[in-house]
Amino acid sequence: MTMSEIPAIALVGPGAIGTTVAAALHEAGRRPTICGRSAHVRLTLEFDGGQIVVPGPVLTDPHGISDKFDLVFVAVKSTQTASAAPWLSSLCDARTVVCVLQNGVEQIDLFKPFASGSAVLPSVV
Ligand SMILES: NC(=O)c1ccc[n+]([C@@H]2O[C@H](COP(=O)([O-])OP(=O)(O)OC[C@H]3O[C@@H](n4cnc5c(N)ncnc54)[C@H](OP(=O)(O)O)[C@@H]3O)[C@@H](O)[C@H]2O)c1
Repeated sequence: MTMSEIPAIALVGPGAIGTTVAAALHEAGRRPTICGRSAHVRLTLEFDGGQIVVPGPVLTDPHGISDKFDLVFVAVKSTQTASAAPWLSSLCDARTVVCVLQNGVEQIDLFKPFASGSAVLPSVV
């Protein structure tokens, strides 16, 4: 994979886990493109003692994406993977790394059919 100096990052599924990862990226100075099912102007991660506001918007139309991304985090629930497939088609090409932020095993096999030839990186949430 050839990754540019500042990788273009997208995140699909800005729920509990997705918002946490988006907030961590934001704190590290990155501006992930956020893709979801419900439109939001911003994401807010609240925790004891504070909050982190991640600028949006949360995009809801996969067909509105024109660029491919270097790194795509996917944090939809496993039962929502198929419905999120249009996002993967729009965001990914063979140079993309897709990091699956889900519980469970066999993440590579589950995501490969949707990931446009991308490398799929399983993880433990
Ligand atoms: N939450 C935890 O503490 C925790 C802990 C360990 C592991 N996990 C694992 O982490 C994964 C994510 O769980 P979660 O708790 O973060 O779930 P969640 O809060 O329900 O978040 C899922 C997000 O995906 C969005 N979504 C659903 N369908 C979509 C689609 N087709 N396209 C784009 N976005 C879509 C949902 O949108 P809406 O807002 O419209 O519903 C929601 O924002 C799961 O595998 C879970 O088992 C979670």
